[in-house]
Amino acid sequence: MTIIVTGGAGFIGSNFIFHMLAKYPDYRIICLDKLTYAGNLSTLADVMDNPDFRFVKADICDREAVEQLFAEEHPDIVVNFAAESHVDRSIEDPGIFLQTNIMGTAVLMDACRKFGITRYHQVSTDEVYGDLPLDRAELSFTETSPLRPSSPYSSSKASADLLALSYKRTYGLPVTISRCGNNYGPYQFPEKLIPLMISNALQDKPLPIYGSGENVRDWIYVDDHCKAIDMIIHKGKVGEIYNVGASCEMRNIDIVKLICKELGKQESLITHVTDRKGHDMRYAVDPTKIHNELGWLPETKFADGIKKTIKWYLENRKWWEDIISGEYQNYYEKMYGNR
Ligand code: NAD
Ligand code: TYD
Repeated sequence: MTIIVTGGAGFIGSNFIFHMLAKYPDYRIICLDKLTYAGNLSTLADVMDNPDFRFVKADICDREAVEQLFAEEHPDIVVNFAAESHVDRSIEDPGIFLQTNIMGTAVLMDACRKFGITRYHQVSTDEVYGDLPLDRAELSFTETSPLRPSSPYSSSKASADLLALSYKRTYGLPVTISRCGNNYGPYQFPEKLIPLMISNALQDKPLPIYGSGENVRDWIYVDDHCKAIDMIIHKGKVGEIYNVGASCEMRNIDIVKLICKELGKQESLITHVTDRKGHDMRYAVDPTKIHNELGWLPETKFADGIKKTIKWYLENRKWWEDIISGEYQNYYEKMYGNR
């Protein structure tokens, strides 16, 4: 079995590669990644010399490069993690989100059609459904909820989902889609809430909470997401969408307070800053379908997962210190300087 994993030098894709190489010693895993600011080869250092693994630096929008890789490797399965993934960046500059997240998905699926595959899996997000109000705790999104994305990021992901479903219907491409909640764990780029707060706290820098901090996200430990995708590509039904979530809703402010407590830092580091434009209030996904049909259940409780994650950032300072020493400084100044 040969699997192309796009975006495998990023957060979830790299964790997926580690999971697959450990679980299936007879599989060949190829990572195709453009190495944008969010992709780090140092993340893949431990598997670079593994004979079952190959890394290829390429853009999923580059049709020629993608086709060349398909011609060389003839993959059975393609799992597409490659994306521009940060909502704040999409608000600043939507263009690259449309290019990578929509056009790149089309290029990959065209190559799948041309060369033939047994499965194309699109890694999507619960953000395609938009948000829920805080005062209706009984509501959560199912796979049939309407698409109501709020940000350029989430609308580009929703567009890619629609394109994938259209390739199934029109060309019979064997597509599956997963829509997951907010992931946390090792190797997450420090622009996202949890790693940003951990790295800032460790440097005794202010912890910037957007608005009141009452916004709710549905958190899942990254390994549980990777295991869900593993199940979907092996046992999921073609043409189906699977929500993935650990039913773990947390307010941003409570997560940041918890991080302060775990690290022994004062809550006075918390600073409320100008809210994000169009800020989604609450996400909550209903994972009943993947549980009933594929037997998937999350294994890591938030209380344990957050401790493991904080420990990882403490033990792997060099990984994130290298990242925040470069271009990230300009990004941070631009996003948080006058907020
Ligand atoms: P990430 O930003 O950490 O990694 C993205 C990776 O894609 C990077 O390695 C980057 O170099 C690569 N990439 C970007 N543009 C590319 C291009 N044009 N060609 C090839 N490679 C390119 O993202 P992540 O958090 O690991 O998210 C992975 C996927 O999961 C995304 O599709 C995202 O929408 C989805 N998702 C993320 C979350 C989350 O909480 N992080 C939740 C649900 C779904
Ligand atoms: P983020 O990690 O960017 O994920 P998403 O927006 O895709 O859910 O943000 C998670 C939540 O944390 C979101 O409500 C925005 C908030 N947030 C802050 O309050 N401060 C920050 O510095 C960041 C990056 C996010």
